[in-house]
Amino acid sequence: MKIAPSLLASSAASFAKSIAECESARADLIHWDVMDGHFVPNLTFGPPVIADARKLTDIPFDVHLMVTNPAAYPEALRDAGCKYVSFHAETEPHSHGLLHAIKNLGMLAGVALNPQTPPESLAYLFGSLDFVLVMTVNPGFAGQKFIEDCLPKIEWLSAERERRGLTFEIEVDGGVTQDNAHRLAGAGADILVAGKAFFDAADKSKFAEAVHALEGGGLPR
Ligand code: DX5
Ligand code: ZN
Repeated sequence: MKIAPSLLASSAASFAKSIAECESARADLIHWDVMDGHFVPNLTFGPPVIADARKLTDIPFDVHLMVTNPAAYPEALRDAGCKYVSFHAETEPHSHGLLHAIKNLGMLAGVALNPQTPPESLAYLFGSLDFVLVMTVNPGFAGQKFIEDCLPKIEWLSAERERRGLTFEIEVDGGVTQDNAHRLAGAGADILVAGKAFFDAADKSKFAEAVHALEGGGLPR
């Protein structure tokens, strides 16, 4: 299974050091939480900061848009060298169109779901999704507690993927720890975002290795 450390849980004053830590731990992706202070009560960074950081590493970038106007971002994110881009179902009435706009720019497109949003809301988008991001905390901040009620959403998506013979990835974001990672793998997750648990880990490589050793939703890493 893949691990995507979230820089939100590191210090903006030392992004370069944090990115180097992701490299030495052999992280698969670097997760960027773009927040607008409107859809979520926090304000972070945008494409210029991400573009600058692109010069520091070859690890693919995974951008999680927590903004009310996600359609305004894909071109700048493509120019910033991003690979995965997700936006929230709750923010976009034209998800099908935006997924394809992202894909047409050569990136992988995903929809993120708040804890209250049912995965069934994606039933008519499956053909357009490269991945689904299941939020397992309320978006806005790192270091929150995993919401157990969200676990069945991962199971539902995994079962639906198998039933329909699809290959979209399932990314889980929020409150992931070394203790719950195996349950998330068992539920069918393929990518674990880890903020606090990764950057606070005494041995980041060991954490990443443990995630890599878990069998995810059946897709190769
Ligand atoms: C929360 C963000 C998450 C967060 C994860 O809104 O989407 O990516 O940084 O941090 P942890 O793993 O500490 O919950
Ligand atoms: Zn995130």
